[in-house]
Amino acid sequence: MALRHNVLLFLCILPFANALYKQWIPDTNFENATNWDKGSVPCGNDQIVFLAQRKVSVYVETAHTITAMSLPVDGQLILASGAGFSVREGGDPGCGSGVTAQFKDPESLKWFDPSLWVAATTIDDLHRGTYQFSVHEESVPCQYDDVVFREATSFRVDVSCDHDVPVKSVSVLGKKFTSSSEFSQYLSSSSGKLQFHGSSSISVGGSGCSDITGCTCDNSKNRDVICANVKCDPLECKKPLHPVGHCCDVCGAVVSVQFSSNFNFESYRQRLQHLFLSLPKYESLLMAMSKVSKEQRLLGVIPFVATQEIQVLLLDQKTGQEAGKLAEALARDIVKDVHNHGSNIGINSAEFQASSGASSSEVAGNSAGVVVGAVLGSLIGVGLLAGVILLYRRGIVKIPRMPSIPSISIWKNNSEIGELGGSLDHGYDNPMFDKPTMMPEVPGLYGTETMNSITLTQSGVHFVNPVYDETDFNA
Ligand SMILES: *[C@@H]1O[C@H](CO)[C@@H](O)[C@H](O)[C@H]1NC(C)=O
Repeated sequence: MALRHNVLLFLCILPFANALYKQWIPDTNFENATNWDKGSVPCGNDQIVFLAQRKVSVYVETAHTITAMSLPVDGQLILASGAGFSVREGGDPGCGSGVTAQFKDPESLKWFDPSLWVAATTIDDLHRGTYQFSVHEESVPCQYDDVVFREATSFRVDVSCDHDVPVKSVSVLGKKFTSSSEFSQYLSSSSGKLQFHGSSSISVGGSGCSDITGCTCDNSKNRDVICANVKCDPLECKKPLHPVGHCCDVCGAVVSVQFSSNFNFESYRQRLQHLFLSLPKYESLLMAMSKVSKEQRLLGVIPFVATQEIQVLLLDQKTGQEAGKLAEALARDIVKDVHNHGSNIGINSAEFQASSGASSSEVAGNSAGVVVGAVLGSLIGVGLLAGVILLYRRGIVKIPRMPSIPSISIWKNNSEIGELGGSLDHGYDNPMFDKPTMMPEVPGLYGTETMNSITLTQSGVHFVNPVYDETDFNA
């Protein structure tokens, strides 16, 4: 009974499909040393300069002593409670002779730069720093994602592409916006105008991903804008791969998974995490899992149908001779796992391609010995069949009803992973786990919503705070 309880609890915290929380990394906080040209936060003998023509919203967390401050024409200081500036008579003994510290220009930081976001499955994972690796297109927010600007930070982000940018929600200063009218109101406030700029507007209020088998991110239309911010490393492997949604070719392996309707995207990701990526030998690997559309082409030319599959990209970050080797080993383990357990977890088949040139279609190997063996084997098979037919004609042998041929697997005799998979399977075999209907749709159960109602009151204080609305320096 206790066990069942745990399973239920686990279900409650399992988030839907592959929607993620995407958090913007940079901030325009006064206390963040990286925002100052000297690499340190100014102290009591320093002069502070904000570039006059730059728009910026700066979050100030604590009290500071300064000598002088020149403010921008259009800017804002958001003061947390207890924060402020004062001039210290006689100088600050711990501050040296004083310098002119300039606040760095945040103007060029782009929404569509994949390196400026981190992604996590839950808010807790975001706070813990348990981030997920994604292909470039999915590193920036997808239409199903919740976008988070860290609480107690301000920022400036350039949202420019040639259309609107849809997301599920946006959290700013601890307030979560889920309706488009509320958010456009925020965008036209003084803070909103300083934090978001560029040619596109963000539209909030998307439905989120409700397909348990996963959703496609649909950032391919922004591919050029995204990839313009990415610099690709030179590669050292034989046959670099081109994963869907990634800006660069890679050394590593890609597993393509064909799924059925009872596939569960998030539980499969967790399965790979627990079964493989947590093993010491695979710890250093990066895995990006996504649902992708692939066009099937008739005679290799005419596109006629787009099918969906799960792409598992594996990168081992090794160089030289070793590049891609470890990723390939894991790809083989994943395909093996699908051979043994695929039907239980809604997977029809899986194959891999590795940057060494290896792939699951040539899994029999390419040494001459194996080829000779296979030819000999089939000759013997033909001989046997001829013999059987002969005997059958003579009425000696009755042909039994053909059993359905199991998928031929050369992995069968390697039991190591099978056993591991077997023992861990209990959780995944649980029918409750696989049924989308068992996923409670009560948002309050997810924890984040309750948290937000608290922060909502907090941010209410924020917005009511006269300092917040009126400390505009329209000098
Ligand atoms: C300071 O800003 C950098 C880059 O913008 C960011 O990576 C870092 O997390 C920030 N530091 C803190 C303490 O928030």
